[in-house]
Amino acid sequence: MSLHGPVQPLHLVCVVAARPNYMKMAPILAALARLRPAPRLSLVHTGQHYDADMNSSFFGALDMPAPDVNLGVGSASHAQQTAEVMRRFEAVLEGLAPSAVLVVGDVNSTLACALVAAKMRIAVLHVEAGLRSFDRAMPEEINRVLTDQLSTLLFTSEQAGNSNLLREGVAPERIHFVGNVMIDTLLQRLPAAIPARQTLAAAGFDPLLGQPQRYAVLTLHRPSNVDQPQRLRALISAMGELAQRLPLLFTVHPRTRAMLERAGLQAGLAAPGMICLPPLGYLEMLGLMQDARLVLTDSGGVQEETTALGIPCLTLRDNTERPVTVNEGSNALAGRDPATILALCDDILRHGGKRGRIPQFWDGHAAERIAATIALWQAGMAEQQP
Ligand code: UD1
Repeated sequence: MSLHGPVQPLHLVCVVAARPNYMKMAPILAALARLRPAPRLSLVHTGQHYDADMNSSFFGALDMPAPDVNLGVGSASHAQQTAEVMRRFEAVLEGLAPSAVLVVGDVNSTLACALVAAKMRIAVLHVEAGLRSFDRAMPEEINRVLTDQLSTLLFTSEQAGNSNLLREGVAPERIHFVGNVMIDTLLQRLPAAIPARQTLAAAGFDPLLGQPQRYAVLTLHRPSNVDQPQRLRALISAMGELAQRLPLLFTVHPRTRAMLERAGLQAGLAAPGMICLPPLGYLEMLGLMQDARLVLTDSGGVQEETTALGIPCLTLRDNTERPVTVNEGSNALAGRDPATILALCDDILRHGGKRGRIPQFWDGHAAERIAATIALWQAGMAEQQP
């Protein structure tokens, strides 16, 4: 019993939705579970991703508990997907009546759940707040800006996040620079990473193609890269050229596979040296990146993971919401022009590319900082109770 009466036990609803959310949430759940008194944690999966290789395979590899609730929304247009998450999440929150809702990242479900909670006067805690590409053509940018405006506590992974939030009028006491939870997971799981040769053998390819430093890795799924057939054709043909210089392991996202089929571009996947793999599990992907000569991507998480691993990364976009990966890490913006991309690849193949340095607080302890901040916040709330 405190001076102010019994402290309400903390009950957090934690939301996951899509592949990049799981590696962010895993260390947060573990750190929250270590708090004393132990909070009540409810894990809600919105079902935005549902294929086993985009979803359930990660729960085992990351030691995540099974979700308490799965909203099962699946794929749909942005408005329909967002609306369906909101409709179903509202009913769940009414039943659970938590102290706060914790969301990560920038997918449609992040915003949908934040909006429902904020309207029910339930505090929203946003992990990976403040990142900005300043490109409103990206659906994630809209999700980021709006989620941050609705949040009570905003946890940032790099200093740029703090400046962006302050400029947007967020009160400084709400902003907490804690570091990168995705890198917590990476550092924890690196010893268990599955070597590339093993992944290749399992997929029926020559394991020798997976020798360290002898291959490049490609991931591609942004709507801005894969939804326009012209742009996709140019990128795939540039990647075909690269594959002739160095074997290219391409993990094909379901969205990209569907777009390649729709645009009649499957032949581009059969270019000599191009090795197409299904979406990989977390430990397989880590193993692939760890030994790569070069990684090409349009994913946010891969930009961060390659920086943590010190592996040269070319981002196939004109901007990044994660500038620290370019300013300090091993990432460079390559844009979408095939000639420029190939020139940058050649430079890395010739000179090795940049290794960069590890950004501040990308040290494996971000989730602990988040848990400690939430505990302090809850204690402050309890003191305000009559
Ligand atoms: C979503 C996120 C993106 C994140 C990415 C990681 C948004 C707006 N986008 O993009 O920020 O980087 O996840 O993968 O939230 N599909 C399947 N199986 C699945 C999931 C999707 O086949 O399990 C296919 C469906 O055809 C679907 C398409 O992929 O229509 C796109 O899925 P969606 O969740 O809308 O967006 P992503 O492109 O995966």
